[in-house]
Amino acid sequence: MTESPVGSEQRSLDDVCFIVPAAGRGERMGAAVSKQYLPLCGQPLLAQTLSRLLALRPRQLVLVVAHDDRRWREIQGVERCTVVVGGDTRAASVLAGLGGVTEAGWVMVHDAARPCVRGADILRLYDAVSHTTTGGLLGVPVTDTVKTVDNNAVIASPDRSHLWLAQTPQMFPRDLLVFALQQGQAQGVRLTDEASAIEAVDVQPQMVAGSRDNIKVTHADDLALAEYYLRQQAVASGNSVESHLSEKTSK
Ligand code: CTP
Ligand code: MG
Repeated sequence: MTESPVGSEQRSLDDVCFIVPAAGRGERMGAAVSKQYLPLCGQPLLAQTLSRLLALRPRQLVLVVAHDDRRWREIQGVERCTVVVGGDTRAASVLAGLGGVTEAGWVMVHDAARPCVRGADILRLYDAVSHTTTGGLLGVPVTDTVKTVDNNAVIASPDRSHLWLAQTPQMFPRDLLVFALQQGQAQGVRLTDEASAIEAVDVQPQMVAGSRDNIKVTHADDLALAEYYLRQQAVASGNSVESHLSEKTSK
């Protein structure tokens, strides 16, 4: 049987709030608009991401936008979101998002910039983590050899068997994540994901194997790759990307 990239619509994540940080500037993309608004398979990238998450029927979805963002209202799916204003760093944006969570005990933070996430992977993360106290995240094992480089000189080759690439969603008990992010900010810890904040308070999140096509659209050539993956996933599930999007976001 072919697995739908969106996952089983029979289930709903009714104790989970998604937080979608979308308050970044997309500087590495180098486009005139923030990358979440660039077109991807005929829709803004952010609309593709929201459709994947809303199809899972979470308790709530909090979308975090930049203070000067004038585009979010036009995005398909925002009528089903709580929208809050983010901050200068990703951690500040996620904390702002946490302030908009009303009921759910669990939060899943998912980058707006990962439009190819598979619903089936999100459900697997939920099943693996919802009985823990630590939370966890999706990721994939590193396949390349990794080097530690200082001033252009290779100073180490870490053992690859222990290295994974962190993806999102990252799922944590809401109160634990608030505590960890506040601590991390107060202590000046460099936080590029939520798991780093959790680790910094001596909790070990679970790593759950995800899919390699859950890329973070970062540089200009990632857009073509994301478009390819979305079309591949649509073919595998017998849908077209465009019809899939309009079906899943209207309710
Ligand atoms: N993000 C955010 N608030 C910030 C910075 C980032 O909500 N102050 C969000 C981005 O919108 C993105 C996610 O966090 O969905 C991952 O960040 P990244 O890929 O680094 O996006 P940008 O910060 O927009 O890109 P860049 O670093 O190239 O400027
Ligand atoms: Mg960034």
